[in-house]
Amino acid sequence: MKAVAIQAFGSPEGLAVIDLPAPIPADGQVLIATEAIGVSGADVLIRSGALAAYGFKEGHVPGGEVAGTVTAVGDGVDTSWIGRRVWASTGGGGGYAEQAIAPVEEVLPLPANLSAAEAVTLGSSGVVAHFGLSHAHFAPGESVLVRGAAGSLGIMTVQLAARAGAAAVAVTTSSVERGDRLRKLGATHVLDRSGEGGEDAPTGYDVIIDIVAGVDMPSFFDKLNPNGRMVAIGAVGGQPPADFGANMMAAFKKSMSFATFSADTVSEPDRRAVRTEQFAAASRGELQLVVHELLPLEQAAPAHRKMDAGEVFGRIVLTP
Ligand SMILES: NC(=O)c1ccc[n+]([C@@H]2O[C@H](COP(=O)([O-])OP(=O)(O)OC[C@H]3O[C@@H](n4cnc5c(N)ncnc54)[C@H](OP(=O)(O)O)[C@@H]3O)[C@@H](O)[C@H]2O)c1
Repeated sequence: MKAVAIQAFGSPEGLAVIDLPAPIPADGQVLIATEAIGVSGADVLIRSGALAAYGFKEGHVPGGEVAGTVTAVGDGVDTSWIGRRVWASTGGGGGYAEQAIAPVEEVLPLPANLSAAEAVTLGSSGVVAHFGLSHAHFAPGESVLVRGAAGSLGIMTVQLAARAGAAAVAVTTSSVERGDRLRKLGATHVLDRSGEGGEDAPTGYDVIIDIVAGVDMPSFFDKLNPNGRMVAIGAVGGQPPADFGANMMAAFKKSMSFATFSADTVSEPDRRAVRTEQFAAASRGELQLVVHELLPLEQAAPAHRKMDAGEVFGRIVLTP
């Protein structure tokens, strides 16, 4: 089968189309003929080599999220899965391929009126957005700032916060056009990347969901209300400065909290329950799923170049 592997860490040119034997599902796994493969910020970090410390090696086939049809199952898996259209988390890679393996507990049937491409914009990001907001103890009536809202995580966070009754949903983004699109998804105030602008924007927020981190992170800590909570769910801008902790301590009297959140800490049944509810909501048209562009699998490198250039609003989806 055709697959795309990271032959060399670094630029997108390190991605190469290769031939691999079709994988064979082991106990508890399913084999999926892929129809849509999500290209995520995590894939970009893995390709760059930034996550080598987590065990990712050159030769790795990236791709954590696919949708398609189950064609075979391993021992212990109900054969009724065969022939079903599903969304799946591959659990760490192997998705950039014509056929991919996933553990059956990470596989969800696709609602009939949800396309495979739409499913891979929602399956992972929806769960991170949902549990990121709950990790921040977000409650209806509170104000929320989503930093780095134009990616798939941010787009879902904006929609979920708005649906849940946030008093305000401010976003940071780099262009007026993106701001207008985010408004249509539920944003009430559009700020620039440094958190400035946004007519009548709140001066403080109860919750900040931060997808960017990076050197500017402490200046956003200053935008929390007393008892406010900032949760980092991504770090597309790199690590915060070394004095981040000192900045937090300087604001001691505001009783603010900072936390990281990873969906890896959510139990599989809890992830499944939320995903099932979100897929149903999307199929009823209550969640907007933003596919930036469909590209053939062979164009994984151009897809990553677009990610690197910051051109992507929503998610790029590869098709085999
Ligand atoms: N917590 C979890 O369980 C979990 C799960 C999966 C992924 N992740 C993490 O989530 C992140 C990817 O999320 P995503 O795909 O939604 O993000 P993304 O699309 O890669 O980036 C989101 C937006 O952030 C803005 N941005 C990018 N670089 C920036 C910078 N240096 N300064 C300020 N703004 C910047 C860009 O929008 P503008 O140009 O409009 O500003 C971009 O569209 C990764 O860090 C990944 O590791 C976390």
